[in-house]
Amino acid sequence: MANIFQIPKKIIAGKDALQLSEQTLSTFGKKVLIVTDDIMIKLGNVKKLQNVLEEISVDYVIYSGVNGEPTDKMVEEGINVYKEHECEFLIAIGGGSPIDTMKAIGAMITNSGNIRDYNGKIIEKEPPILVAIPTTAGTGSEATKVTIITDTKNNIKMLLQGGKLIPTLAIVDPVFTLTAPKGITAATGVDALTHAIEAYTSRKAFPLADTFAISAVKKLYNNLLRVYEDGLDIKSREIVATAATEAGIAFNNSSVTIVHGMSRPIGALFHVPHGLSNAVLLEKCLRFLKSGAIDRLVDLAKAIGVYDIKMTDEEAADKFIEAISELLKKLEIPNLEALKIDKDLFFDNIDKMAKDALDSGSPANTRKVVAREDIVSIYKELWS
Ligand SMILES: NC(=O)c1ccc[n+]([C@@H]2O[C@H](COP(=O)([O-])OP(=O)(O)OC[C@H]3O[C@@H](n4cnc5c(N)ncnc54)[C@H](O)[C@@H]3O)[C@@H](O)[C@H]2O)c1
Ligand SMILES: [Fe+2]
Repeated sequence: MANIFQIPKKIIAGKDALQLSEQTLSTFGKKVLIVTDDIMIKLGNVKKLQNVLEEISVDYVIYSGVNGEPTDKMVEEGINVYKEHECEFLIAIGGGSPIDTMKAIGAMITNSGNIRDYNGKIIEKEPPILVAIPTTAGTGSEATKVTIITDTKNNIKMLLQGGKLIPTLAIVDPVFTLTAPKGITAATGVDALTHAIEAYTSRKAFPLADTFAISAVKKLYNNLLRVYEDGLDIKSREIVATAATEAGIAFNNSSVTIVHGMSRPIGALFHVPHGLSNAVLLEKCLRFLKSGAIDRLVDLAKAIGVYDIKMTDEEAADKFIEAISELLKKLEIPNLEALKIDKDLFFDNIDKMAKDALDSGSPANTRKVVAREDIVSIYKELWS
């Protein structure tokens, strides 16, 4: 069976990747909109980018309103700045939020109508050139064709997609991740790990995407704890940043499955950061998935080095799930209670969340039929 494999046109990765990008950046236009958040400005990351742009005589204007996960309002504000200053291309610097906001701004520059019209649809018209500089090693958005924007009227996370949303250039410089605090390092790292595991266990998986998924799981399993314990370990930060992009490439082509499907409704209703809502679901969803994907979980157990020849396949799959669960404990991932989610409100919303999860289409990619009742019971189990 044939498959389509899509990746950014160019990826410049490794320490000092930003400097190495000068020549490429100089060919994209004379004026750029930088999409970012206030923390990136405070940390001096935007200044580093400004210095590079000044060096190559590219004029810029900054939209730094992405202070939280992206909403339709932020996208609208960004579009206004882009148009007012007659920009020619876009650069996002920050976590997945500024990158996703940039993609949506770009999409709505060339595609007419309201952003809500595009929920679940394919973006057809080419946006201006998009450049992504991730500062978290997490979402992989620098390599993906999707953007997730909250519809503030209906409290749902909209999914806009299309190959045209894949950034033309991804600059993956681990130096930017050095400042990420422990909590953000853990949550975003587990997001990347979830992308890789879901891509590998997706019904849509295929060999070329598997290569990236397996490589990412291996790198993340062996290095996440290191960067969590020592945020300044640049070698491990570089491995984790590379892995997050690999995981993005993997799920961009194989799709995410039940975890992301169930995680988005929690994020939309309770404003839990994306990485954490995945992390709380990961172990329970893997236990649910097991009987449908034993062989894939055995491969993953082998990849992370917890497989033993004496094990049955089922034991090896269990071993992988246990190893991931141990890692999550060491990364001190909080549970829903610690995240201060109102339990009654959560239970009141389980039906809506289950519907939104199924409607997103992601659970259907799981290697096991996911019924509405399965989703409801996993949501309930999160409190046991
Ligand atoms: N498009 C995709 O393929 C895709 C995939 C997964 C997730 N997402 C989306 O990405 C968003 C989440 O992105 P995220 O997890 O990267 O978080 P984020 O961009 O929301 O950032 C979280 C916080 O970390 C801070 N931060 C980021 N980098 C930092 C650094 N190096 N040092 C210090 N602070 C730093 C930010 O300022 C922010 O306060 C969600 O909206 C999610 O839906 C998109
Ligand atoms: Fe994700």
